[in-house]
Amino acid sequence: MSIEIGTSVMEFIAAQQLGHPQAKGRLTLVLANILAGCQFIHRQVNNAGLAGVLGATGGINVQGEEVQKLDVLARNTLVNHLIPCEGVAAISTEEDEGIILSTTPGNYLTVLDPLDGSSNIDVNVSVGTIFSILPCPQFDRKVQPQDFLQPGKNQIAAGYVIYGSGTMLVMTLGNGVHGFTLDTGSGLFLLSHPNIRFPRPSKYYSVNEGNRHSWDPVILRLIFELSRDRSARYIGSLVADFHRNLLAGGVFLYPPDSKSPKGKLRCLSELSTMAMIAEQAGGRSSNGRESTLNHMPTALHERAPFYVGPPDDIALIEARLAEMYQG
Ligand code: AHG
Ligand code: MN
Ligand code: MN
Repeated sequence: MSIEIGTSVMEFIAAQQLGHPQAKGRLTLVLANILAGCQFIHRQVNNAGLAGVLGATGGINVQGEEVQKLDVLARNTLVNHLIPCEGVAAISTEEDEGIILSTTPGNYLTVLDPLDGSSNIDVNVSVGTIFSILPCPQFDRKVQPQDFLQPGKNQIAAGYVIYGSGTMLVMTLGNGVHGFTLDTGSGLFLLSHPNIRFPRPSKYYSVNEGNRHSWDPVILRLIFELSRDRSARYIGSLVADFHRNLLAGGVFLYPPDSKSPKGKLRCLSELSTMAMIAEQAGGRSSNGRESTLNHMPTALHERAPFYVGPPDDIALIEARLAEMYQG
């Protein structure tokens, strides 16, 4: 398979699909539709200050969070690309309480965080789109929400697009992690970062230290320990924090706290994707007790604590947290 720098993502995906055991059917088409949507979102994010899409809608989503205009635009863009897409049986997004059925039967379920990092939209800081593709358990009956309740290890593909100083796609089809930079002239995502691996040892840790007053003492001590030989970086967009750690070498933590005892981040629309990418890049992820990829979600919008980064860091975190869970 051609893996030369500058290979377009569609050429790359088509070649990978040929050798992918689970990829029956129209995986290339599904990914093409997600990326077409992301290109439109890229333009909207870039022009947000001029296009009148900054700010809140005034609504509250199913998670009880303020909805931004770009959240809605990103959600509508992706859903409209996927509803008629052959191969997609149904869609679940962070913004929708239930699932959205497509107009055709298909082998795939798609899960989306259409716009991740909403609090950074209005201040010109990196945001992203997160996607996950799961197998559809039944081809010949109406998809049910429970069909989405699958552990991350079932994913066929996972990726994110970061709208940063440049726009970049980072994706895995279960065969390593590869990064593609959007060439704004041609509109193509071109391979720029083949075979991404977490650099080791890690140099950074990312956590919202503003939550420290609500942390268990075990978490406080853990963060203090990590800070001895790591520098802190926290952006507040999961995509941007994860991406920075993946390329520069660092560990990301969103532990439970007394305000969010189950953690803040969402298993299906945020964590599964990052967990698969991390593992494929030589890293690991955990909810403190078990690998994020093994956790079986029990609801579409379930949340969980999240720790992700190089394996040594996650082993250290799990060892320290054992004390909290035993106590
Ligand atoms: P979203 O914008 O999709 O709702 O996600 C926000 C998430 C995630 O991007 C980030 O890691 C986290 O919220 C930041 O939370 P805090 O502001 O609590 O640190
Ligand atoms: Mn998010
Ligand atoms: Mn979001």
